[in-house]
Amino acid sequence: MKKIVVLVSGNGSNLQSIIDACQQNRINGYVAAVFSNNADAYGLQRAEQADIPAHFINPKAYVDRTSYDIALLKAIDQYNPDLVVLAGYMKILSPEFVQHYYGRLLNIHPSLLPKYPGLHTHRKAIENGDKEHGTSVHFVTEELDGGPIILQAKVPIFVGDKEEEVIERVQTQEHNIYPLVIGWFLDQRLLMEGNNAIMDGKVLPPQGYAAE
Ligand code: GAR
Repeated sequence: MKKIVVLVSGNGSNLQSIIDACQQNRINGYVAAVFSNNADAYGLQRAEQADIPAHFINPKAYVDRTSYDIALLKAIDQYNPDLVVLAGYMKILSPEFVQHYYGRLLNIHPSLLPKYPGLHTHRKAIENGDKEHGTSVHFVTEELDGGPIILQAKVPIFVGDKEEEVIERVQTQEHNIYPLVIGWFLDQRLLMEGNNAIMDGKVLPPQGYAAE
């Protein structure tokens, strides 16, 4: 069985969607371990509730990002993962970490990339009067939120929407698309080559997979 390691910093609702998809055989693999840079991340509790090893590695115990990330990757490698998944992991990764898992490192980012990399994406979309917003699953490269896009999901923004309403709408989509993409990867339908995502042997367009 293929092994997934998931990194979380907070609530872990995406982690939960992945655990559920594994249990329901929608993903051909299992979550072997969960790691966090935040001791209070609810995602760690979700892992424990599912009998998945859950580890907090304290950033304060390391002098810099690189030494933290090297300790983290050594701990992750104990599980020999086929895929490392960032699910609301809010710490910027060092080039060493990204290189180590190159081609088997996925992220989900709450915007229609390349729009709104970084933080506060929902607020920015509302403030700019966007009528459309969404989320993107992409391979991770050294460029922050810049790796090749695999799949996006769009949601509407209605007049008068509050940030929380938009976040909830986006997260509902995230819980659908992230397990789907993880399943594709573990079924070996998906890979990264150069700066392209390749699905079923075809280079995906810049906005990722589109059914039409
Ligand atoms: C998700 O919406 C994810 O897209 C976002 O954090 C949230 C985590 O929710 N990730 C980022 O902003 C990464 N730049 P969760 O902890 O409930 O899965």
